[in-house]
Amino acid sequence: MKTRKQTTSGMIHVINGPNLDMLGKREPDIYGALTLDQINGELKARAETLGLSLNFFQSNHEGMILDYIHLTFEREPAGVIINPGALTHTSVALRDALSMLSCPIVEVHLSNIHKRETFRHTSMIADIATGQLTGFGHYGYRMALDFLHSLSS
Ligand code: DQA
Repeated sequence: MKTRKQTTSGMIHVINGPNLDMLGKREPDIYGALTLDQINGELKARAETLGLSLNFFQSNHEGMILDYIHLTFEREPAGVIINPGALTHTSVALRDALSMLSCPIVEVHLSNIHKRETFRHTSMIADIATGQLTGFGHYGYRMALDFLHSLSS
């Protein structure tokens, strides 16, 4: 099993995958009423209180997400919070990209993927992530941030 370095000196990257730009409008009974901008805004405020620096990235394109992770790799990140959307269940390429990173990685899902369709029960990244938060709605992102902060305190 891979050991992940626990450092919080660099930037924490918050990455959201396909269709998460549609939060607020998209199936609000499953994903909640907040937009991604609202979630990121709350997270940014929380990070400021904790003295952490965040960088936000969202794309509907798998390759763009891989390119962003490659850039992240070069910048020695302190941590990654990622909701890969549907790529969670399908993308070996995403798994391989995240495997390059040695920082803590927290996998977040708004809905509880284990309570939904069988195809959502598999995560290609769960076993290479530090941990998975699933089913806590937008609060999951904040829990991920608090966890990363706890590594430095
Ligand atoms: C999701 C769950 C995925 O199964 C789905 O494809 C998403 C969102 C979540 O946050 O609950 O797009 O990652």
